[in-house]
Amino acid sequence: MSEVQATTTMEKIVSLAKRRGFIFQSSEIYGGLNSCWDYGPLGVELKNNVKRAWWRKVVQERDDMVGLDASILMHPRVWEASGHVAGFTDPLVDCKVCKQRFRADHIEGDRCPACGGELTEARQFNLMFKTFMGPVEDSAAVVFMRPETAQGIFVNFNNVLTTTRMKLPFGVAQIGKSFRNEITPGNFTFRTREFEQMEIEYFVKPGTDEEIHRQWIEQRFQWYIDLGISKERLRLREHAKDELAHYAKGCYDIEYYFPMGWSELEGIANRTDFDLKRHAEYSGQRLDYFDQESNEHYVPYVIEPSAGADRGTLAFLLDAYHEEPDKDEVRVVLKLHRALAPYKVAILPLSKKEPLVNMAKGIEKELRKYWMVDYDDSKAIGRRYRRQDEIGTPYCVTVDFQSLEDQAVTVRDRDTMEQERVPVAELSKYLWEKLAW
Ligand code: GAP
Repeated sequence: MSEVQATTTMEKIVSLAKRRGFIFQSSEIYGGLNSCWDYGPLGVELKNNVKRAWWRKVVQERDDMVGLDASILMHPRVWEASGHVAGFTDPLVDCKVCKQRFRADHIEGDRCPACGGELTEARQFNLMFKTFMGPVEDSAAVVFMRPETAQGIFVNFNNVLTTTRMKLPFGVAQIGKSFRNEITPGNFTFRTREFEQMEIEYFVKPGTDEEIHRQWIEQRFQWYIDLGISKERLRLREHAKDELAHYAKGCYDIEYYFPMGWSELEGIANRTDFDLKRHAEYSGQRLDYFDQESNEHYVPYVIEPSAGADRGTLAFLLDAYHEEPDKDEVRVVLKLHRALAPYKVAILPLSKKEPLVNMAKGIEKELRKYWMVDYDDSKAIGRRYRRQDEIGTPYCVTVDFQSLEDQAVTVRDRDTMEQERVPVAELSKYLWEKLAW
């Protein structure tokens, strides 16, 4: 088997992300805030497109799924019931010499990986962020910032069931921020303390859970491939029994070959009936399902495909990165899937003067009805193509002097660099066909 290789280094992606406006360090003018990142004009488009592609696949295209947007702050009892107050911890060790902190399960041996110094005994550190609700900062006012979006779905189980009359098997999807006070955040947006999750809780009849778990694993794996991630840099990894979260009967991770090696992109767990049963116990409410076919009540099992929007966005960025020889130079091109590209089309007039500008602006206005469009009239055309390649724009539309006469433009394909002359009257239709997904 050939050795898997990352497309590029993290340094190159961090640099491109900053230079082109994908991702900036948070609070940069104050020196930055460790592990917090801001999505710039192109980054917000890319991440929104990742979320949109996910939503379309798992909600819009299915008749067994609905969406939800629950609040970040929830009743503190939620986290007692879910087991997060007692068990959402990582083992923490401190170096007695250089004072750095590490996750005990992330280091090999019993010495500090930074300076070789002696380490303290491991102690359990709860990862949930706490804050206070209302003006009084006492223990009765403590609330947690959710560490997973999942619980918002479990506590709304009855609400969704009664308002939608969904029948098993069915699922609820949610996209939203989660917070974890990670001991060792890092690797750019891979592990941060504030991040966005795209989670599904799929409720099934007990006994059908293992088969449906397998189906979700397959479908979620294929989603990344369909959106352009290369198969060689994706793999499935089954969790060992001692690695499983407290609620899980089984779990598979979809891993991507990041520059730092194979790392989790998405986890797909069989959460059994753990959460619904615990919330029923802690709330005193009945959280079960009446099966009209078998005339019985039972608590559904749950299959949970849980993806990170930030990690996904990072993987799509990394995988799209290509450096290609171009004459004496190197062409950097982001071969992002058309569904994900921040701008779908760039309009590049060959002159800044009338009447060419008038024509180019008219085309821009028309195309903006359907897509995010960039307009660039600065510098030489070659440099403008380069810039669009580097930000992943699939099509460049060049308006030249001939356009004034033949009412046609040149459309350049990012990946093949082939150019085609297209009548302006047919341009929208032409691009619709090219950009459909
Ligand atoms: N509800 C299950 C759950 O939260 P998880 O494996 O802890 O499972 C799911 O998280 C996904 O959320 C991960 O696969 C990853 O993509 C993302 N994620 C988790 N912690 C993260 C962090 N600190 N920074 C960025 N993304 C994170």
